[in-house]
Formats: sequence, C-alpha cells, structure tokens
Amino acid sequence: MTTRLWLILDHVVALLGVATWFAAGVTLALRRTRPAFAALVAAVLVTLVRVVTVGILAGRGWWFVQEKVLLGLPMLVAAGAGAVLLAGPRLLSALRGRGDGGSAGGVVSVLTAAYAALAGLVVTFLVGYPLTWSTALITISLVCAGALLTARVVAPPAENIAAARVAPEGRRAISRRRFIGWTGGAAVVTAAGAGTGLSFLPAESVTVGGGPGRSSRTAVSVADLRGSGSPAPGGTVRRLVLTAKKATVRLPSGREIEAWTYNGEIPGPAITATQGDLIEVRLRNADIEDGVTLHWHGYDVPCGEDGAPGVTQLAVGPGEEFVYRFRADQVGTYWYHTHHASHLGVHKGLYGTLVVNPRGGQRADVQVDLTLPVHTFGGTVVIAGSDGRTEHLAPPGTPVRLRLINTDSDPHWIVLAGTPFRMAAVDGRDLNQPGEVSDVGLHLPAGGRYDLVFLMPDTSVALVVDDDRDGGLRLHGDDPGEARVEDDLPELDLLRYGAPALVPFDARDADRHFTMVLDRGVAMVDGRPAYAHTVNGRGHPSIPGQLVAEGDVVRFTVVNRSLETHPWHLHGHPVLILSRDGTPSTGSPLWVDTFDVRPGETWEVAFRATNPGIWMNHCHNLPHAHQGMMLRLHYDGVTTPFGGSHGGSHGH
Ligand code: C2O
Ligand code: CU
Repeated sequence: MTTRLWLILDHVVALLGVATWFAAGVTLALRRTRPAFAALVAAVLVTLVRVVTVGILAGRGWWFVQEKVLLGLPMLVAAGAGAVLLAGPRLLSALRGRGDGGSAGGVVSVLTAAYAALAGLVVTFLVGYPLTWSTALITISLVCAGALLTARVVAPPAENIAAARVAPEGRRAISRRRFIGWTGGAAVVTAAGAGTGLSFLPAESVTVGGGPGRSSRTAVSVADLRGSGSPAPGGTVRRLVLTAKKATVRLPSGREIEAWTYNGEIPGPAITATQGDLIEVRLRNADIEDGVTLHWHGYDVPCGEDGAPGVTQLAVGPGEEFVYRFRADQVGTYWYHTHHASHLGVHKGLYGTLVVNPRGGQRADVQVDLTLPVHTFGGTVVIAGSDGRTEHLAPPGTPVRLRLINTDSDPHWIVLAGTPFRMAAVDGRDLNQPGEVSDVGLHLPAGGRYDLVFLMPDTSVALVVDDDRDGGLRLHGDDPGEARVEDDLPELDLLRYGAPALVPFDARDADRHFTMVLDRGVAMVDGRPAYAHTVNGRGHPSIPGQLVAEGDVVRFTVVNRSLETHPWHLHGHPVLILSRDGTPSTGSPLWVDTFDVRPGETWEVAFRATNPGIWMNHCHNLPHAHQGMMLRLHYDGVTTPFGGSHGGSHGH
C-alpha cells in the first residue's frame, strides 16, 4: 500500500477514534449502560488500530508521524487507559445488573480521552511537522482545561456542597476536589501561557543545512549579477520587445478569452535562439496594474536576470520597463512567465516558450519540430494557442520532435499513440540513451518539459492530453486512418528510463542537506494567518532561507505529508534526482528543474551551487506558492537591495 493510502487510512482511523470516544463519553453521561460499554470497547479497539497505522507510517518516514508519536498518541493512550480504569469496572458491574454504570470520574475520564483524540487530530491538520514545544504545551493544556471544565459540569460544586452538609466526611472530599480544581487550573494556565509565549519567539531566518554559517565575505548585490553583454563568437543578438498588456484573444474555435498577454498573444511570442546567441528582451508593462516580470523557467541565467520581484528586481509597473540580457548557453526546451502575482498572471496568459538549438545544427535534420505549451483556460486545454484538435502533415520517415511544456499548475497526462518514441530530453536536458517506448502514458509536472522524438510512420500519430480524444494533435503520414489511443496505459517511470552515466559530483557526500516537509496548516502568510501550504510548518516569508556557499554540493529531501501534488522547483540550478521513496534512480541521470512530489512521497535530489545569487525555491503549483509554499536559497555573501517590506511579500 502506498504511503498516501496509509496517510488517508490513518486520518480515517483517527476520526473514528474521536467519534467512538465521544460516543462513549456521552452515552455514559446519559447512563445508557449498554451503548456506553459498546462504544468504550470500540474506542479502545480503534485506538489500538491507530497505534498500528501510525507504526506503519513511521516506517515510511518520521516526518509523517512525528507529532502523532510524540504528542497525539501518548496523550490519547494515557487518557484512554485512565478512562478504561475509571469507567470500565462500573460499566461491567452495571452490565451484570449492579448499579447504573455511571460515575462522575468515569464520564470525565472518557470525555478527556475524547478531547485528547480530537486534539491529536487537530494538531495533525493544523500544525503537522515539526512539533514544537509551543504546540505541545498549548495542546496539553487545552485537553486538561477540557477535563477540568467537564468535571465542573458533571459534578457541580453546588451539588457537592449540598452533599457535604448531609455527610460530614464529604467535606474532606470537597476540599480535595477544590484543591485539584485550583492547582489544575493554575497548571493549565501556566502551560498555556508558556506555550503561547514560545510561539512568539522569532524563528531563525536562515538554516545552514549542516554547513558553515555566514562568512564575512564581501557582499555582492544581485543587482550586479547581470548577464553578459555580448554573444559567443559566431552568435548573434536576438532582440525582442515584450509588452505585457490585457487583450481579448480569439481562439481558433471562436471562443474569446479576456487574457493578460505578452504582445497581445497567448502564448507570448516564441523565443528561439542558437546556442551562444545573446538574448535581449525589453519587457514593457502597458496596463497590468499588479506589475509583471519575466522569469526564465529552467534557464540558469545570472541571478540579476531571474525576474523574481522583491529579490532580483522590483516588479515592473504600468508604464515601466526592464531589460533582460543573457547568453543562451543552455540548449533545450524552456519557457518564460511573469513571476509577480504569478498565480494570477501566468494563469491568465503571461507565458511563452524559449527554445535554444545547438550550434552546428546537430538537429538540423529535425524537420517537424513543434513547441507545444499546454495551458488551461476556463477548463479548456489550449495547446500552443489552439483549443480543439490541430492537424499536421508529416511525410513518412520525417524525424519529429514534440516539445511539451506544462504551463499550468497541475500535472497533465500525455499519451502519444501510433508510434514508438523516445523521451529525448526532460526539462531541456538530454537523457542518456533513452530507449524506445510505446503504450505508456507520461505524467508531465507543472512547469516541466518533455521532448519526444520519433520517425514519422506511414500511419497517423495522435497526441492526447488528459484523455481528451477530440483535442490534442494529429500528425498524418500517407495513410489517413486514425491512431488508436489506448486507455489506462502504465506510466513511464523516468527514474528507470535510459542508461546510467557518470555525474559530476558525489551526492552522498553533500556539504549541506536541507529537508523540506510539505503540508497544509495554519501559518502566517505575508503577515496574515492563513490555512496555508507550508514548508516545515511555516509559510512564506517566514520559512527560514537556506544558506549555501559557492561550490557546495547541496542535497534536498522533499517530503509530501499532504494529499496534494507539489511540483517542486528551484530557480537557477537543475537538480539531479537521487531517489524516490528510498528507491534510487537507476536510469539516465535525470536533471530537472521541477519534480512532482506526490502525496506521501519522499524525494532526494542534489545539485552543485555554481550560480551565485538569491534564488526562489518553491512549489510550482502557483496558487500553493501564493499560499505560502515558497522560500529562498541564499548564497553566502549575496545581498539584495530589492527585498523591502513591499517587494518581498508579493513574489508570487
Ligand atoms: Cu516557473 Cu519560480 O517559477
Ligand atoms: Cu504545491
């Protein structure tokens, strides 16, 4: 069973635990002996099952269970054991006809177990990993406060006093109870106060991942880390103006979209270059009030060209402009998009493609070369600006390259039918000895790119996205027949595709190691409390930055505790995939800039820090990033003049 299923099962069992403990408490208070006994037995059984599910999840990784093992379960097991001891014997004798099974102590203890069960579940959903002293103290004091209040309701002091008047020995019982009430109350208030106080301690602003801290190196500003002013020998300068503006765009089907565009087009103008060319793009903003930038997704530009507002530049407001300049040294399929309020801007159309061909034309033989950004507008998949199906003619034997780019925030399921093919490149980087495959489906992460190559057969080839048979792309050879598109194809696992090769560093021997546990929870996002998408329990910009030094080999462990997919994306560097769920990558070295961490998965990746700057490191589901799932990787000695209180808070 997958970790995701165990996570779901554990949530269900935890919820059942809450229900059964409350049922036991309420029926006991109502002195319904039989139902109370049944509910108590059920609660105990469910609690034991919970111990098993948590144990299994612990085997999948400490991150999945830390708060359950250290707080939720111990609290529940202790309260539950107390409840069984206090309520159990009376219930048993009541079942045999002696007494009514109820007692104030029994009711209070069973309900306390219910509070503990509920508190554990709430901590898992609102706080998660890592558990802090603050959370533990506040939770325990809330459960104890619940127990004390319940005791007052179940055995009110007024009744006690009346009883004490009747029986003199009752007085002692009452003063004992008062003592418990007062000291218990004081302890609860103290613990809650301490927990709350601790939660206000400022968080560290940077983590070092086991490496040295900041050095006294002379600082360099990201504003000075700009691209080269000239092309490589033989290269040319590719100049382009991109004007961000609102426009009504008419799709081939006739449908009109109120879009945000570069130059009035969606996608924006396709940028192509030959390796070594200088790309110079003048970005102007006509009327996007929020401001815009250009981020070169997957392209390892110098940091000052990266387009991260509040980090590498200020957002470009209406009437303003910014010039990006960098040398196209990296070959492959990339894309560009705004990085300011990008959950809105990219979604509405502020994106385009960037393709760099090798110099010397190793790929001149490619006669059909299609760049296919896949974007969803109002529920309709639009491929390279067309909704509905696109048809192409390709003479049999023609080499074909399809460059798929996912510009959405969710993954797409891609099927290429009618021909065997190879996945030549992932995220712009060529794979080593990619073998021919057919009858497989491809899972393309948000932000990711796949280059598929094949020789055109006589018959037709179909490219189908998200099982939409009416849309997509058709390539026709001589034979006009339709390609058969199969259902339920197995997914091509890129961790086992292609052949291994040497990689430029030893990832086992990393200089720094950072763990990012992805989840949902209550956290501050841009100064406001929110039900956020969190990294290690925090939201942007309170997630500590990651410090690296130039030349470091850096390793990331990315764990997904949530039930949503998180396409993880580091700017400025491709990362090498080491393993998924502990299973090493055994195929071609896989260098990516975005990798999908699906629910319950744990990924290990590594990279060498060779591109100084301050780089965004975030989930490329852009609404998630906007809701907190975003942090920064800082090179030692690099500073930014753009991180004022304003710019820094609206990076996405
Ligand atoms: Cu394509 Cu920070 O993004
Ligand atoms: Cu996400």
